Amino acid sequence: MSKFKKYHIGIPEMDSQHEKLLSNIDKLRNSIIAKDTAVQINDSISEMMHYVKVHFTAEESLLKKAGYPGFDNHVLKHRQFIKKVVEYHKRTSAGTTPSKYELISFLQEWANNHILTDDKKYAEYIINMVEVKSG
Ligand SMILES: [Fe+2]
Ligand SMILES: [Fe+2]
Repeated sequence: MSKFKKYHIGIPEMDSQHEKLLSNIDKLRNSIIAKDTAVQINDSISEMMHYVKVHFTAEESLLKKAGYPGFDNHVLKHRQFIKKVVEYHKRTSAGTTPSKYELISFLQEWANNHILTDDKKYAEYIINMVEVKSG
């Protein structure tokens, strides 16, 4: 069983993307805990950021196709997350290591709030829509 099962929202494609994203977050968290240098943390942020963008693009296109009523708000939340990650990326590019728990708790909070709340909400909408159509 996947260690990220509790993050499943019921849409297989998104669940597997979230697992990849959460593995990236784990990797970043481990590099912070291991007190890697700003350069190494910077690399892990870049890697995570790359996958975040892949996922957000796929998710936003799914929500658009589904005509999800909360689309604009959801996209805004994605943009806000990217903005914060870019800030951390800039700080580590400049050689500053963010406080260990600041970045970890930011990522953890985001995973919990965003995937388990915002993403779960659109998943319920889409699953419901599919049921209405097929029923
Ligand atoms: Fe999302
Ligand atoms: Fe998501």
